[in-house]
Amino acid sequence: MRVLISAGPTRERLDPVRFLSNRSSGKMGYALAAAAHGRGWETTLVSGPVELPCPAGVERVMVESAAEMAEAILSRAAAADCVIMAAAVADYRPRQAMSQKIKKGGGTLVLELERTQDILAELGKRKKSGQLLVGFAAETENLLSNAAEKLRKKNLDWIVANDVSKPDRGFGTSENCVTLLGVSGRRIELPLADKRLIAAQVLTVITGGEL
Ligand code: CTP
Repeated sequence: MRVLISAGPTRERLDPVRFLSNRSSGKMGYALAAAAHGRGWETTLVSGPVELPCPAGVERVMVESAAEMAEAILSRAAAADCVIMAAAVADYRPRQAMSQKIKKGGGTLVLELERTQDILAELGKRKKSGQLLVGFAAETENLLSNAAEKLRKKNLDWIVANDVSKPDRGFGTSENCVTLLGVSGRRIELPLADKRLIAAQVLTVITGGEL
């Protein structure tokens, strides 16, 4: 089993000293990579900038921007039996990255942003038969309906629905509480637990095992 996992935030450069990013800590993706290696799977982790050490036995590729993450993932996806996109990839980047530091002026500053590539949607289009494709849905409202919509639109096998509106779970924390939705209509709730346990449970479910 060869698995490709993304983790962490991306950084979209604004000028030489500033970027747009998000609060993802990378813990969920790193826990998935450690658990995958623990099962004897050949594991590659594509990581945005985070403070975490590389899990033992895992091949890690560090990236910064959504564009770099897209290149690192899409160039490796065809060789993977399973791809899990746990990264919080930026949906927008500044239209122009300034070569010099932006200086303040008197009025307001308007930033123009353009869309980044949706890596997971592209993986869904390219999905080989037998390849397992898993996404995450970070939501603050309408968790299950938004997640189900992403599962269908992006041609996924499973989506991990993650409520990021509560301070004790999801972004930046050590614990998580998620609901897994499968393309076959299955719905599995994983109660609040350490991300290492959630990671092990997610791998069991997506590979057809019972909890
Ligand atoms: N994702 C991706 N490429 C992007 C944005 C997101 O591959 N440019 C992936 C994430 O890794 C995650 C899934 O898509 O697995 C869902 O991301 P999320 O931001 O929750 O949803 P979006 O599809 O971006 O929709 P929206 O931001 O409107 O909720």
